[in-house]
Amino acid sequence: MQPIFPVPLLFLLLAQQSVWSSTPQEPKVQGSPPEISSLHHPTWSLGLQLYRSLRTNGSQTNTFIPPLLLANSLLALGGGAKGSTVSQFHDLLRITKNENVVGETLTTAQKAVHESNGTSYILRSSSALFSKQAPELEKSFLEKLQTHFGMQHVALEDAQKQSDMEKLQYWAKSGMDGEETAALKTALEFKAGAMILANALHFKGLWDRGFYHENQDVRSFLGTKYTKVPMMHRSGVYRHYEDMENMVQVLELGLWEGKASIVLLLPFHVESLARLDRLLTLDRLEKWFGKLNSTSMALSLPRTKMSSAVNLQKQLAAMGLVDAWNETSADFSTLSSLGQGKLHLGAVLHWTTLELAPESGSKDDVLEDEDVKKPKIFYADHSFIILVRDNSTGALLMIGALDHTDGPAIHDEL
Ligand SMILES: *[C@@H]1O[C@H](CO)[C@@H](O)[C@H](O)[C@H]1NC(C)=O
Ligand SMILES: *[C@@H]1O[C@H](CO)[C@@H](O)[C@H](O)[C@H]1NC(C)=O
Ligand SMILES: *[C@@H]1O[C@H](CO)[C@@H](O)[C@H](O)[C@H]1NC(C)=O
Ligand SMILES: *[C@@H]1O[C@H](CO)[C@@H](O)[C@H](O)[C@H]1NC(C)=O
Ligand SMILES: *[C@@H]1O[C@H](CO)[C@@H](O)[C@H](O)[C@H]1NC(C)=O
Repeated sequence: MQPIFPVPLLFLLLAQQSVWSSTPQEPKVQGSPPEISSLHHPTWSLGLQLYRSLRTNGSQTNTFIPPLLLANSLLALGGGAKGSTVSQFHDLLRITKNENVVGETLTTAQKAVHESNGTSYILRSSSALFSKQAPELEKSFLEKLQTHFGMQHVALEDAQKQSDMEKLQYWAKSGMDGEETAALKTALEFKAGAMILANALHFKGLWDRGFYHENQDVRSFLGTKYTKVPMMHRSGVYRHYEDMENMVQVLELGLWEGKASIVLLLPFHVESLARLDRLLTLDRLEKWFGKLNSTSMALSLPRTKMSSAVNLQKQLAAMGLVDAWNETSADFSTLSSLGQGKLHLGAVLHWTTLELAPESGSKDDVLEDEDVKKPKIFYADHSFIILVRDNSTGALLMIGALDHTDGPAIHDEL
């Protein structure tokens, strides 16, 4: 008998090929991965704007946001909108003509992130669209939400026992595998028809070269409050730049297998991050990254974990996403034909936990000492900014500030 499988297999191959050849748009394969100095990925402008907007008041401390996850979930929800509502989603994501180009950029980055999970870092994340007492949402939309964007849909119905916020907080905590989550500053109440975009993310980088496990001396961390924290140490050659004019050190730390890197921005002296926050423009970062240079370094970082919870409604509205929040003007008619005058965006919430620990990605984690002469000192015992960047796509995975650590407070010093 003829083997029967080659026919469908061939068919499949042909079908696949026609899909590929019908979308010849952007050249996908580049000769080399993008340099860290080219911050063209749409996650950078979005992330920087939101970060600065969150920080302008000085009321937010230990603020962390994941721009890639956020961009993806906004793109997903924008797919259910029409009219000026969808235009505002597009403007926010810098989608001009071709939605697919930006969409593909984000999808590719999201894929890369999942592939690096377990190698360059350990990531636990969940994304969901909650809807409160809303009309039934289109099946095809919900399917795409799940299969293409990896987002769940959760209906919030009336319940006496748990408030909406308790449910959301519980969801975030389980999305991060039981990690402690920060609480939002203000409790939120949702009207019927509200939709809530929620992301929860726990990130722990695995260094390409681990820090010493022993000799973690306990020092004072001189942040917005003074706390005790164990400091971990390592010497070696790292890409580094010292901006004398702006009095800030820029340091790039590669993660295991080079699939991502963490960049730290540390002011020369103890100070609040307000000054540095204002310096964070795309141009300046690009300049700094372009000047990174292999340098002998002696590094000391706090071993710590910080948690952040933010609602981005005000910030997104200030950036032009206006109609989506307003029951009257929001148009989510692709999502539901019965939603007019009811369906609206109620909140965009992010829970983030970031861990700084000594481990590298190597199973053996043998610390090889590098012989460095006259190292430059990078002693991070005061507030600094952290950026996490995917190496293959250039996407900004996370941006945040470590204003203080959560160790025991120091009352009697300084
Ligand atoms: C900053 O704080 C003021 C008052 O505390 C508040 O009215 C304003 O909305 C805040 N701005 C942002 C962007 O959060
Ligand atoms: C990352 O990998 C861990 C196991 O190593 C897994 O539990 C987790 O779900 C993965 N995270 C994502 C976002 O896929
Ligand atoms: C990024 O990836 C390229 C190629 O895989 C590699 O040569 C480079 O060292 C990586 N960058 C970092 C910071 O690890
Ligand atoms: C890196 O340092 C070397 C030697 O100190 C110098 O010659 C070179 O110009 C520097 N490169 C950059 C990009 O600053
Ligand atoms: C909502 O939109 C309607 C119609 O455009 C407008 O009249 C109303 O003032 C808006 N409400 C708020 C709170 O902005």
